[in-house]
Amino acid sequence: MTTGKLQAHKTSAGLTIWLTGLSGAGKSTLAALLTDRLREQGQAVEWLDGDELRRSLGRGLGFSREDRFENIRRAVYLAGMLSRHGVITVVSVISPYAGMRSYARQELPGFVEVYVNCPLPVCEARDVKGLYAKARSGEIPAFTGISDPYEAPADPELTLHTAERTPEQCMEELISWLTEHRLYR
Ligand code: PPS
Repeated sequence: MTTGKLQAHKTSAGLTIWLTGLSGAGKSTLAALLTDRLREQGQAVEWLDGDELRRSLGRGLGFSREDRFENIRRAVYLAGMLSRHGVITVVSVISPYAGMRSYARQELPGFVEVYVNCPLPVCEARDVKGLYAKARSGEIPAFTGISDPYEAPADPELTLHTAERTPEQCMEELISWLTEHRLYR
């Protein structure tokens, strides 16, 4: 586990758990487990997932740098609204540019950046959705990690290594970190 800077924040000020990482790194799996665990604990929690956001609020947006920024801007807007009402918000989006994550950090009180770190070859070998194969063949252009950048977080609150641990272990690690830092009651 690695920890980075921690903004001063408490539950009342909002809490957004921001999961960033490559496609196939395990963001959604981790977000689902985390959301379930927090709900079991009686927390008000919402999960904003990249694929789902792109089917709703982000409909029509593509994967150019500009569209990705717009996608993140919308996710931040929604996360801000939820967290102002005391809802713990879990956001799982690639968010490949450092600039978009610093924008989220600046806009969202109680921002916790979690780097869901999985080596590209492992993500590609998993290829759960078959997207890496399409990216390699050129069928999908501007694919993160293959033909588009992923700027790894320089100083996230927490890094989880999903190639080395099970999703459950990663979720427990994250819950322990949140508890240790008294980020929710
Ligand atoms: S971003 O960059 O944060 O706006 O991306 P995000 O909203 O999280 O959407 C990522 C999901 O879109 C699918 N997909 C692609 N990802 C990356 N690059 C390209 N070109 C692309 N085309 C489609 C893919 O299913 C991503 O989901 P995850 O869950 O990350 O695999």
